[in-house]
Amino acid sequence: MEPITFVVGESKSGAYETVYRQIDALLSGESDAIANLANSASVLKYSLNYVSWVGFYLLRGEELVLGPFQGKPACVRIRLGNGVCGSAATSRRTILVPDVEKFPGHIVCDPDSRSEIVVPIISNDVVRGVLDLDSSSVNAFDSVDQSNLERIAAMISRKVFSAR
Ligand code: SME
Repeated sequence: MEPITFVVGESKSGAYETVYRQIDALLSGESDAIANLANSASVLKYSLNYVSWVGFYLLRGEELVLGPFQGKPACVRIRLGNGVCGSAATSRRTILVPDVEKFPGHIVCDPDSRSEIVVPIISNDVVRGVLDLDSSSVNAFDSVDQSNLERIAAMISRKVFSAR
């Protein structure tokens, strides 16, 4: 397995501090949702090099629909309750999947994906979508990813969805 490394900072926490500040700066003063989600996905993808795909699925009725992302083309529509994304949206909780082959119902978008973390984005108590990260390594994500991605999702919720 390839060693897990970070583009910025000396540790995963350090990398996330830089990511948080970059996203905060990019979103300040801009209210366009697509632009803000696209820049957020880009910062995450190019700062954490154990991530093979990162993007947003946005709630549209009873479905999640693919939003801004970085990585290979992905499935467009996921029904609530389906896959890791649909389960995170329904349970309103982060789902960390150390090995996608062991998650029943996991939806394969990229056959190289081996682990995944999905964080719901909730604004005014309403689920707006999810933030999804994939890695081609098993066990790529841990509690440091979870706490930092939840903090980033909360910022995105405030800056992108509460402003509407
Ligand atoms: N694996 C996800 C589908 C989305 S892709 O990973 C980009 C899931 O099971 O919901």
